[in-house]
Amino acid sequence: MPDPVLLIHGGAWSIPDDMVEAHLNGVHNALAAGWRMLARGGAALDAVEEAVVIMEDDETFDAGRGSFLNRDGKVQLDALIMDGSTLRAGGVGCVERLRNPVRAARKILSDSPHVYFVAEGAERFAAEHGIPLCRNEDLIIPREVERLRGFQARAADANVDLFAPTISHDTVGAVALDGSGNISAATSTGGTLNKAPGRLGDSSLIGCGCYADNQTAAASTTGWGEPIMKLVLAKWAADHVATGSLPEWVAAEAINYLKDRVNGHGGMILLDALGRFGIAHNTPRMAWALKTSKHESYGIERKN
Ligand code: GLY
Repeated sequence: MPDPVLLIHGGAWSIPDDMVEAHLNGVHNALAAGWRMLARGGAALDAVEEAVVIMEDDETFDAGRGSFLNRDGKVQLDALIMDGSTLRAGGVGCVERLRNPVRAARKILSDSPHVYFVAEGAERFAAEHGIPLCRNEDLIIPREVERLRGFQARAADANVDLFAPTISHDTVGAVALDGSGNISAATSTGGTLNKAPGRLGDSSLIGCGCYADNQTAAASTTGWGEPIMKLVLAKWAADHVATGSLPEWVAAEAINYLKDRVNGHGGMILLDALGRFGIAHNTPRMAWALKTSKHESYGIERKN
C-alpha cells in the first residue's frame, strides 16, 4: 500500500508582499481539505477536487470568486480534472455562472461520455446534474474591479496593447496519490487579467494545464497559458517521468524548456505513482503545499 501524497499550488506569478500570507493560508486550508479525503482512504480524485474547491472559494486566488476579470469586466472560468487510473477526464471552459467549475468538471468525468464542455453548454450540463448556477456578478469582487480599471487606464495612457501576461497567473491546482496507488490531477483558473472574452487558457486543456496517468505522472501547471499550451507541457513532463527521470528533475526541466523554447513563465507540480514529486517555477513566487503521513511543508519563494 503506498503512502498517500497530496501536493498543491496556488499559482505562479509576482505575488505581492501583502498577499503572501493569504496565499500561504489558502494553500494550507486546501491541503487540509484534500488530506481529509486521503486520510480516510478516499480516492486521489476526491482529494484533488476538494483541495481545488477550497481555493476556488478563497478570494485570494485566481479561481472561482475573486478571479481576474476579462476585458469586458466579467469572470470567465476554466477547469479540468483527470483520473490517472482510467484516463477519464472532465473539463469546462469559459463558464460564467459556476462558483466551483471543478465540481462541474468532476461531474463530466463521472457522468458524461464527453470530456469537455464550454460556456452555456457547460453551465446547462452542470445545472442538469444538480450543480446550482450563480450570477456572474456573484463571482466579481471590488479588488478585481479596481485592478482591471487600473490596468486598462495604464494601458490607455501608454497606448499599448491590452495584455497582461506577466502580472496575473494565479491558477490553482492539485495532484495526489492515494492508498490504492492511483494518481489524479485538477487545475482551475480565472485566466489572465483583461483577457479577451472567449479566450481559453492552458489550465483546462488535457496535457497542457493538467494531466494524470498512473503509468507516467500527474501534473498541474500554472503561468502564462499560451506558451504552456504550445508545449503541451503537463503531458511533456509526464512522458519524461515515464522514461525513468525523477519528477523533481523533470519539473525543473519542464520550466527550463518553457523558458528556453517559447520564452514562457510559470510553474508546475508533478507526482508519480511511487510518491516521488517535483515543484518548480520561474516566476518570483508560487505558493505550494505538500503533505504525506510523515511530512508537511509549504513554500512560496523561488529558490534559484
Ligand atoms: N494559466 C492560466 C491561463 O493562462 O489561463
